Amino acid sequence: MNSYRIALNFEDGVTRFVDCGATEKVLDAAFRNRINLPMDCSDGVCGTCKCKAESGAYDLGDDYIEDALTEDEAGQGLVLTCQMVPKSDCVIAVPVPSTACKTGTAQFGASVTEVAPFSDAAYELVLDIPENAPAFLPGQYVNITVPGSGQHRSYSFSSAPGERRVTFLIKHVPGGLMSTWLQGAGSGEQLQMTGPLGSFYLRAVARPLLFLAGGTGLAPFLSMLEVLAREGTAQPVHMIYGVTRDQDLVLVERLQDYALRIPGFTFTTCVADPQTAHERQGYVTNHMPAQALHGGNVDVYLCGPPPMVEAVQKHFKAEGIAPASFHYEKFTPNQPAA
Ligand code: FES
Repeated sequence: MNSYRIALNFEDGVTRFVDCGATEKVLDAAFRNRINLPMDCSDGVCGTCKCKAESGAYDLGDDYIEDALTEDEAGQGLVLTCQMVPKSDCVIAVPVPSTACKTGTAQFGASVTEVAPFSDAAYELVLDIPENAPAFLPGQYVNITVPGSGQHRSYSFSSAPGERRVTFLIKHVPGGLMSTWLQGAGSGEQLQMTGPLGSFYLRAVARPLLFLAGGTGLAPFLSMLEVLAREGTAQPVHMIYGVTRDQDLVLVERLQDYALRIPGFTFTTCVADPQTAHERQGYVTNHMPAQALHGGNVDVYLCGPPPMVEAVQKHFKAEGIAPASFHYEKFTPNQPAA
């Protein structure tokens, strides 16, 4: 019997994947995997199991009543997991924390393959993870324990899901815990990770996309772009990648490669430093053409420091644009995970 992979993304950012048979209800598949999704009647009457399908094809089922799920709600992607049967792999946002469903994050080990520095700006960390390591969604992160410190830092995968070799783009922070460890790290060293985590992942692509990356906030977009390159998309995708200093602009050649592999993908870069030699000085908001906003018919994804999120929100307001959706991940290098 065919089965589909269902990603359950809980309110606290924890994600668990379950296999669901082609005629099986998602609630039952979760139960088989000891994940107690919210439920009461399991008959399509109470609405307690209502979740949001973020991507994938599915059959809503015929046995529920309007009080449990209205037509409007179904139109917005809401589903009853006690009735829903998947017709493809799906991502489902569950509106309660993972602990309320008696599940949580997974822990797994990883082995260092390479640490590649980009001048004094960043590192690319390449790791091998075990075959049974948990899957992740493009855009998600893990917490990596810095060996010997008992502390962890959060990093988004810059590689696409489904590979045993995974990569991360890590900002170099002088004197920072992870930066200091990376400077002496060699191949074969072991790391402990917890995850995957986060609600910043690529949803079903239903309209044009605008990706806004700040510094090493580029990482999750590399994961998303690899997925778009593999799966294809009919929608235009524009990225604006802004950094502080010239040397912070790393991996531009990968973006050039994606511009060749993904029809409709374009990008620009900019540097905030007033002394920059780069052709575009300024912030991402200074280099955002009106056509990239598609009059609001656009899904915006942003990963960058908190002031960038605020600046972009202000920019949209000033332009009188309300994007169809705005997903963002704020990160502050050298901080313990929130
Ligand atoms: Fe009652 Fe699904 S559990 S409608």
